[in-house]
Amino acid sequence: MVGAAEYHQTTKHSWWSVRRRAQPLDWANRPGPFKRYRGLTPIPLPTAWPADLHPAATVLSQGRGPGDVRVDAAVLAKLLFCAAGVTRQLHGIAMRAAPSAGALYPIEVYLACGPLEGLESGVYHFDPEHFGLHRLRSGDFRAHLAEAVHPDLASLPASLVLTGIPWRTAWKYRERGFRHLFWDGGTLLANLMAAADASGVTARAVTAFVDGLLAALLGLGEAGTPEEFPLAVVPLGTPEGAGPPRRGVVTPLGLEVEPLSPRPISYPLITAAQRAGELHNLDQVRRWRERARALRGLPASVHVAPTAPGPGLEEVVLRRGSTRRFRPDPVPAPALLWAMAAATRPVAGDFVAPGHTLLQHDLIVHAVEGVDPGSYRWTPAALQPLARGDFRPQARVLCLDQPLGGDGAYTVFHRCRLEPLLEALGSRGYRAAQLEAGVVSGRLQLAVFALGVGATCLTFYDDAVAGFFRSPAETMLVTACGFPAYRARPGRRPG
Ligand SMILES: Cc1cc2nc3c(=O)[nH]c(=O)nc-3n(C[C@H](O)[C@H](O)[C@H](O)COP(=O)(O)O)c2cc1C
Repeated sequence: MVGAAEYHQTTKHSWWSVRRRAQPLDWANRPGPFKRYRGLTPIPLPTAWPADLHPAATVLSQGRGPGDVRVDAAVLAKLLFCAAGVTRQLHGIAMRAAPSAGALYPIEVYLACGPLEGLESGVYHFDPEHFGLHRLRSGDFRAHLAEAVHPDLASLPASLVLTGIPWRTAWKYRERGFRHLFWDGGTLLANLMAAADASGVTARAVTAFVDGLLAALLGLGEAGTPEEFPLAVVPLGTPEGAGPPRRGVVTPLGLEVEPLSPRPISYPLITAAQRAGELHNLDQVRRWRERARALRGLPASVHVAPTAPGPGLEEVVLRRGSTRRFRPDPVPAPALLWAMAAATRPVAGDFVAPGHTLLQHDLIVHAVEGVDPGSYRWTPAALQPLARGDFRPQARVLCLDQPLGGDGAYTVFHRCRLEPLLEALGSRGYRAAQLEAGVVSGRLQLAVFALGVGATCLTFYDDAVAGFFRSPAETMLVTACGFPAYRARPGRRPG
């Protein structure tokens, strides 16, 4: 069995590995970005929904509001749109609310709910193409979901499940595509949780569950469907009564899905890395969660002073689009100091002790008002200087020789000490660290876009980053921030 440590080592990028493994993309075998069920007509979602209760800057600084707004079809529509909706068309590609490497969109979103205003109880698949829901199961399956995840889920009105289809991203990134599932899942989660906070809906990210039970409930991996992994569960809302008793058994859906491409390719290393982290029963889930809750990692940013209120969260989501060219001009200090503090708040979840994080964040500052150019370590208490100097050329090289890595105002390397993490939480902990990196990057992007600055995720040469910062942590993901060198057009709501 290939564990996370071996997977990570094998899929590192170096100057040599990237050139040695370079291959042209097989455009004729490109996977489609939408999961299309044959014979199912999507149920349209509402396209009018309640306005945000709080501005984006408040939400990003402080997290959830009162958290007791009732979940109904309109609220769900808003959350689904802000997390995974189609916001604009670019060069024939349906671009989504959250960033996704190569615009390949490997993440699918499912919903299991009791009876809600505007929606019958059931298990659904979110269809971003038509902004609707495919009904996969009729009836209340929350008790089944609770058996796969946590008993509390039976009495919550609804839960979303994020899954990943490896072939969509492995088409371009091959074995490294397993990392991409969690990065893209994380950026989507950042949008989803921020939209829930802005709407007054309680949400958290649950990473421990019985993989097999969850997959069976959603019909993942059934004959005639692509390989697809459950990644995270997001319970929504507050408990409503005792929840329904468990009725019946989960039978195969027996639904057919349009093939993603003429010849989908399975990557054994990806499948093995996912399997290595699986939990097989609720007892294992409980024990993993206990170990995770005891893991102190590093302190996260708990008290974040809010900045000027600015636009609503939905407006920021529509504004966001990965910056393709940066201006070298300095950004104001809050675009680093406030944005990093907001992005590195604890993620409400089950994978680390409350108030803590699995990550450390090392920065190269190029042009930020009041901050000398150089390398730094971010901590909630201070931006600790490591070395002074103009490191733009080095930053470009570290980010896979991409100019975006050094052209903007600053570049953040989201990193993790893998050894102690894997010792405590095994391969499942690796999934959580990659997911948290995606969440932090997603939040950082929302934060800087709220201030009128731009950003993009970037990939990187793994060991070169460790060498630059002279620290043994492994890099999980990179985010570069700065003013865009052009005026970007915002996206639009459906309808
Ligand atoms: C995990 C991740 C890695 C990415 N890596 C790169 C990268 O190395 N270079 C780049 O130019 N863009 C990168 N991007 C940006 C994507 O290409 C971009 O999100 C995608 O094209 C969708 O466009 P949008 O973000 O404007 O909606 C990355 C995005 C994500 C989420």
